[in-house]
Formats: sequence, structure tokens, C-alpha cells
Amino acid sequence: DTPFLVDRYGRVARDLRVSLTTACSLRCTYCMPAEGLPVVPRDELLTPAEIGRLVGIGVRLGIRDVRFTGGEPLMRHDLVEVIRASRAAADAALAGDGGSVRGGSVRGGSVGGGKVRFAMTSNALGLDKRVHALVDAGLDRVNVSLDTVDRAAFRALTRRDRLEDTLTGIRAAVAAGLAPVKLNAVLLPETLAGAPDLLQWAVDNGCHLRFIEEMPLDADHAWARQAVISADDLLDRLSSRFTLTPAGREDPSAPAEEWLVDDGPATVGIIASVTRSFCGTCDRTRLTAEGTVRSCLFGDAETDLRALLRGGVSDEDVADAWRGAMWAKPRAHGSDAPELAPDAFADTTRTMGAIGG
Ligand code: GTP
Ligand code: 5AD
Ligand code: SF4
Repeated sequence: DTPFLVDRYGRVARDLRVSLTTACSLRCTYCMPAEGLPVVPRDELLTPAEIGRLVGIGVRLGIRDVRFTGGEPLMRHDLVEVIRASRAAADAALAGDGGSVRGGSVRGGSVGGGKVRFAMTSNALGLDKRVHALVDAGLDRVNVSLDTVDRAAFRALTRRDRLEDTLTGIRAAVAAGLAPVKLNAVLLPETLAGAPDLLQWAVDNGCHLRFIEEMPLDADHAWARQAVISADDLLDRLSSRFTLTPAGREDPSAPAEEWLVDDGPATVGIIASVTRSFCGTCDRTRLTAEGTVRSCLFGDAETDLRALLRGGVSDEDVADAWRGAMWAKPRAHGSDAPELAPDAFADTTRTMGAIGG
């Protein structure tokens, strides 16, 4: 009986990812079908007040990093309110008021004190127009999905001709001081050749680039293990233009391994979810846009917290349900099977666009 979000394998969730919508302004092939995902009716989405309440409960359960994802968070017209409500609830939880969930002192100290960091993962379309309001509401950081700086490749991959708008959004985030702005590039056969140009662009524009091995979360179920471009493939390619020196991980539960670029200070990261999976140190819990908890990216187990919130239950009851969901977190890639190969994944009905990465 602990106040934290602990699972049967001893992992403790400190990082909460909140999906805000399944809508998006792009249609990246590895994440969504061409027609987009079914629209979630408005009354099925969590409201800013509900998100704030869950964030407050999460903080009392030990969460210290909150990341808003999608679909695309900027598709929510009330994003500023979401962030403001979440920030206020986190501050209240840290100050120890307004909630009935017990605090405790397993690993990492008591629930009081510390700081909650708020981040967003976005495609940056239109970010230039809203970045100041978002920072004012309490946003600390942003990660932007950018797979290529080649206009034709960008258009083919995202099914939209909007490279320039994305780059404008990224520059605005850097100018607004949301440092470090991290760029996420999914490794794909069609973008591998452009990887050195992308890294050069990131370095020139003051962004931290991370490449990501593609996981089976695409709409068309076209993913095949043997077609995955691996961290090693990428290192080969980048080494033709840059000198890379291994620099370890930012912290032990960070998904990315870092390399110094040309002796630094710039670094490039690789999130090798397929060839070097990091489930053993996973510290994440997730909320879908409809208010269910997912303990893992993979697998389909979900626990409905929205129904509890709307049923008028106490924070303590919501916290109990959340703890129960996390206790059942699968060992790796959505499965408890000890014989599951590290590069195998449990089937998942949702696509990345409906989970939020
Ligand atoms: P930082 O705190 O900025 O480092 O963020 P992050 O890396 O946690 O967040 P981001 O949304 O930028 O995620 C980057 C990538 O990591 C995602 O695109 C996923 O491919 C991968 N990723 C994120 N969470 C998980 C996870 O729980 N499991 C696995 N296998 N991969 C994940
Ligand atoms: N495999 C790995 N990463 C993915 N992303 C989206 N779909 C996939 C996938 N199938 C990444 C995007 C985004 C992040 C949240 O998830 O790059 O930045
Ligand atoms: Fe964590 Fe599941 Fe991702 Fe592994 S696949 S890192 S257990 S969320």
C-alpha cells in the first residue's frame, strides 16, 4: 500500500502524458490514416477542469513531469485553459492543499516540495501565434515532430505541404525561450538520406534533435520489424558528415541515448525503442483524450477515470483506480510474457495519433 503509481515490477511513474485530442493538422503515415482519426465527440473529451483535477491527483501520486500530446494539442482551442488549470492544480497539490490523496515518501522524497514541469509534444503548426499565451499559462517546454527539412519528403510523409509553417513554429518556440526545444524525427527509409541535413538544421537553429526508431503504431499496420531503420543504420549515415561520440543518457529513465556532435556542445539523441528497448526503466503513465489511463503505449488495457470523475467520486477513489491501473502495467511493450523478444510488441488497436506517443 503506497501512495505512488507503482507496478508489479517495481517501476514508479513520475511522468504523465496527457493526450488532449485525436485531431491533427498533419497526417503522418506512421501515425494516422490519410482520412484522419474518427472525431471524438466534444462531450467525451476531458475538459480543462477535469484535466486539472487529474493532474492534481497525479502530482499527489508522485508525478513531476506532465506532457500534453495529441493528436495535436494545438487543435484544442482551450489549450491555454488546459495548461492554466493544470498548472494551478499542480501548484496546489505541491503546496499540500485541496486534495484528499495521501502523500508519502517512497523513492524521491515526499510528495510536498519540488517542481512540476509542463511540456507539450506538437507539430508546431500555428505555434508562432500562440506561444506567448502558452508560456504565460505555464508551459515550460515543447518537443516538435520534424522528420525532414526536405519539402517534397515532408509533403509525402505528412500528406500536407507545410514544411515552412512547421519551421516557423519551431523558430518561434526557440525565440520564446522554451529551451531546449527538442525535435523528434521518426527514422524511415524515405528520410534516412536527409538525416545529416536535418541534424545540421537543428544545430544551426538551436534545437536538440532526436531520432526515433519506428514502432508498430501506424494506421495501416504496415510496420515490419525487418524494415525498421535502426539506431546503427542512422549512426552509419550521420558519421559520413559528423564525428559522433557517445554521451550516455540525460537521466537513467530518459528514452534517448545521446551522442556529441563534432565534439559538442551540440548533441543528437537516438530513441531506440525497437533495437534497444527501455521498458525496464519506464516511468510513464498516460491519459487518453477520453480520460482513460493507459499504463503502457502497447496493449489495450485501459481504465476509465472520466466515468469516475463524472460520477462524482472523491479524489481518493480516482487515485485508487489510477494506482490499480498502473499496478497492472505490463512488463514490456504491452506484454508480460517473459519470452517476448525485446524487439516484439503486443498488438494495439490505437494508433500513435490516438495515444500521443
Ligand atoms: P523529454 O522529456 O523531452 O525527453 O520527452 P519524451 O522523450 O518523453 O517525449 P516525446 O513526446 O518527445 O517522445 C519522444 C518519443 O519517445 C516518442 O515519439 C516515442 O517514440 C518515444 N516514446 C515516448 N514514450 C514512450 C514509451 O512510453 N514507450 C516507448 N517505447 N517509447 C516511447
Ligand atoms: N513510432 C515511433 N514514434 C512515433 N511517433 C509517432 N508515431 C510513431 C511511431 N509509429 C512520434 C512522433 C512524435 C511523438 C509523440 O511520437 O515523432 O513526435
Ligand atoms: Fe514503457 Fe510500455 Fe513504452 Fe515499454 S513500451 S517504455 S513499458 S510505455
